[in-house]
Amino acid sequence: MSIQQDNTFQAIISHAKEYGFVFPSSEIYDGLSAVYDYGPYGSELKKNIRDYWWKSMTQFHENIVGIDAAIFMHPTTWKASGHVDNFSDPMIDNKDSKKRYRVDHLLEARADTLREAGKGAEADALLAEMDRLLAAEDFAALKQLMLDQQIVCSVSGTSNWTDIRQFNLMFSTQLGSVAEDADTIYLRPETAQGIFVNFLNVQKTARMKIPFGIAQTGKAFRNEIVARQFIFRMREFEQMEMQFFVRPGTQMEWYNYWKENRLNWHLSLGIPREKYRYHDHVKLAHYADAALDIEYEFPFGFKEVEGIHSRTDFDLRSHQEYSRKKQQYFDSDVDPATGKPYGNYIPYVVETSIGLDRMFLLVLSHAYAEETLTKEDGSTDSRVVMRIPARIAPNKLAILPLVKKDGLPEIARELMNACKPHFKCFYEEKDAIGKRYRRQDAIGTPFCVTIDHQTKEDNMVTIRYRDTMVQERIPMDQVLQIVNQAIA
Ligand code: GAP
Repeated sequence: MSIQQDNTFQAIISHAKEYGFVFPSSEIYDGLSAVYDYGPYGSELKKNIRDYWWKSMTQFHENIVGIDAAIFMHPTTWKASGHVDNFSDPMIDNKDSKKRYRVDHLLEARADTLREAGKGAEADALLAEMDRLLAAEDFAALKQLMLDQQIVCSVSGTSNWTDIRQFNLMFSTQLGSVAEDADTIYLRPETAQGIFVNFLNVQKTARMKIPFGIAQTGKAFRNEIVARQFIFRMREFEQMEMQFFVRPGTQMEWYNYWKENRLNWHLSLGIPREKYRYHDHVKLAHYADAALDIEYEFPFGFKEVEGIHSRTDFDLRSHQEYSRKKQQYFDSDVDPATGKPYGNYIPYVVETSIGLDRMFLLVLSHAYAEETLTKEDGSTDSRVVMRIPARIAPNKLAILPLVKKDGLPEIARELMNACKPHFKCFYEEKDAIGKRYRRQDAIGTPFCVTIDHQTKEDNMVTIRYRDTMVQERIPMDQVLQIVNQAIA
């Protein structure tokens, strides 16, 4: 990360705290590493992103329905899913500082340093070699690669490393009050398994025909060893996942469909295409026959925001084996090759999985801008503006009577009452109008409306657009329609 990028990222983190988007968790006790709380504007923005995703999945696709499964699941779930045996990262400890690191993060950081030094080709070669060795699980060669690259611990400054070992990322806890009798259960590391174990419940009760999807949003937990970059990598986070159940053999068709559909969802928020790229996985997870990341260019470089995974029938087949309950679907459609119904099979699954918190960070990164403004008299001023897409902005409209007397608050309240059933509005009477505009810019409110003395004469108000700062007089009864159009 260059100094400039680092400064921007630090400015976003400070802004997020100062303006009530994100706070460190239990801050009065000095916080808890990689756990965060969302403040008044943050919780609104997060909810709006979640709703926007939910709507795009369950309202715009007639063949996708939602569920809300519990965080706690029967412990065998995680044996069947492979998480007990496989959900681990290769880690290495520095013997001097006793600090533990993820090996891929150390090598990626080294590649970033090479790139910043203008050695892009060397960086690419390093990452390719890392992917190859990770895929082969050749930990001895990976350690040698670290030594060859002279990677040192940032705390001790030495390369006195242990061997590389795998560490499981699941949090465990006990069910029941008496620890000795208790069963160990896990906090779910992904929401997807709640969908898989409910596959037949949903298919039967909602009378779904393949191809169909099940969507879910909710908390997931991972004991990330190296938790960093603010809300990018957290220990408690939220996922928005959709499992799409398809006929075996058609999975690549649907994989390509969802690859495009999901990128289009991001672009529909007005975020430019050049900020995104696809990254095909070389090392496939234990359940996948194809996988890619949708990456976004964060202030610290291109990083994964969403995964599209073709998970084959791995999960349903495995749950069938462990539970001894059939996880089959009867497909009555006729197979043109045989002239007979496709019959019973375990469906294949294409999954779309996006981190809500990571999407939130993406929106902040896209929206945050520091601007220098030149006034009419030639002097300059500055503002921080959050260009949050209007449809997900925490507040859509700020209603600001110019003064808190002369009947202006009463008119403003009338407008507030007309608008607030439709979208989130903010009302404020205090401080000079310029100051109030700046505060709304800083929390990303796309429209401000000012009621002044002239309004009493002609029912006209001043609408101010956040991004351009253009102001115009419009009839007060047009405000609702203008905002509604912008957020539709
Ligand atoms: N069900 C598949 C699955 O969980 P994943 O690639 O491990 O796949 C999906 O996670 C998404 O969840 C990621 O693209 C990322 O946006 C988000 N995510 C994963 N780990 C995270 C963490 N520690 N903190 C925040 N978001 C995370």
